[in-house]
Amino acid sequence: MSARRRSKLRVGLAVLACAVLAGAAGCSYPGADVPYVQTPTDVVAEMLRLAQVTANDVVYDLGSGDGRIVIAAARDFGARGVGIEIDPGLVAYSNELARKAGVSDRVTFRSEDLFDVNLSDATVVALYLSYDMNLRLRPKLLRELQPGSRIVSHDFDMGADWLPNQTIQVMWRDRKSNVFLWVVPPKS
Ligand SMILES: C[S@@+](CC[C@H](N)C(=O)[O-])C[C@H]1O[C@@H](n2cnc3c(N)ncnc32)[C@H](O)[C@@H]1O
Repeated sequence: MSARRRSKLRVGLAVLACAVLAGAAGCSYPGADVPYVQTPTDVVAEMLRLAQVTANDVVYDLGSGDGRIVIAAARDFGARGVGIEIDPGLVAYSNELARKAGVSDRVTFRSEDLFDVNLSDATVVALYLSYDMNLRLRPKLLRELQPGSRIVSHDFDMGADWLPNQTIQVMWRDRKSNVFLWVVPPKS
């Protein structure tokens, strides 16, 4: 087996192990600000519904994991999507899942730090990060997103200085997730 194939196999096995673990404990790529933990598919659907995603939207997921939010936005709502993920193995896996879902022409996955990405063409931003990450991201979101853009976050809010426009609870198995929606206000 060539060195290239061996390295691809190693990445594949690491991503697979991570994908299996992610439902429970999660696992982290070096340099990641938060570990890889998946949003359950029922919660993904409710996040996209709450954001009222349509075929006119460009949906970004910052820290996109296996790409499930972006892929669902393209597959179920006809949107275009961009996933930003620091782990290149997860980016490769997301591209594979997008190909299987038949949405490769409408989605892009990029291995980048989410703080370095220009968000000006996003109309919807999805987050499943942490409370601290949301607070760090808040000024960037308010600066770069157009008024009227929507932000949906799984489980973490943005603190008392920016209360959500709407909050819903989603049950999955025996657990409950909170989903928060903000609409970017007019620039002052
Ligand atoms: C909790 S997971 C969420 C995955 C996916 N959005 C979901 O909801 O299923 C967070 C993801 O963010 C990625 N991540 C952490 N820090 C990052 C950073 N600075 N830039 C880009 N991705 C990052 C992690 O590798 C992980 O895959």
